[in-house]
Amino acid sequence: MSSLSSSIADLRKSYERAELSESASDPNPLRQFDQWLQEAVNAQVPEPNAMTLATVGGDQRPSTRIVLVKGYDERGIVWYTNYDSRKGRQLAGNPFAALQFHWVELERVVRIEGHVEKVSAEESDAYFASRPLDSRIGAWASPQSQVISGRSVLVANAAKYSAQFLLNPPRPPHWGGFRLVPERWEFWQGRKSRLHDRLSYRQEGQQWIRERLAP
Ligand SMILES: Cc1cc2nc3c(=O)[nH]c(=O)nc-3n(C[C@H](O)[C@H](O)[C@H](O)COP(=O)(O)O)c2cc1C
Repeated sequence: MSSLSSSIADLRKSYERAELSESASDPNPLRQFDQWLQEAVNAQVPEPNAMTLATVGGDQRPSTRIVLVKGYDERGIVWYTNYDSRKGRQLAGNPFAALQFHWVELERVVRIEGHVEKVSAEESDAYFASRPLDSRIGAWASPQSQVISGRSVLVANAAKYSAQFLLNPPRPPHWGGFRLVPERWEFWQGRKSRLHDRLSYRQEGQQWIRERLAP
């Protein structure tokens, strides 16, 4: 074991960059998210659009992985993936998920929970068509989450599908978007002395109820 294992408990940081108050936050969580994501992009944090996606399988056990947000509006938060992947199968059996962004440099976290639906085939087609060619071939070449005998499987698959589809691979039927429809949001801003700001939004009818949570 490296010497880090004994000193890791001493790694800590004081958060002092900003604050999140009831009066300064937006009553609408989507607009608050839009503002914070824009600020993360402006601050040039690495991969500001990367979010952790948590799903729960049929065995009731959670699992997480990173995906990229590809769209968001009043309908929800969209990402794209392989519907036959582990996460895709888990979502087919249990269409609820949680998302989390951590913008380290801004000392901010956003958490979003809700139910999940597939985006329309037209929407998936449109986004697929906008991807670079190697990504479109990759969607065919990778049987995401399956055990493969070696990297050569991917290379051979990519060559095969490139030869088959040339410059125009269609969207694979097993590939497309999911949309999480938010039922709960939380915005976390790190503060001094562990007295962080946490604003949670939960839906009651058409209204969003904003509440402060203890850190
Ligand atoms: C920064 C980053 C972005 C990623 N974006 C996606 C994505 O948008 N869609 C996707 O299916 N996988 C994405 N991945 C790969 C996933 O994290 C994961 O390895 C893959 O989806 C398989 O997960 P699963 O076996 O749980 O289904 C990304 C990984 C990283 C590190």
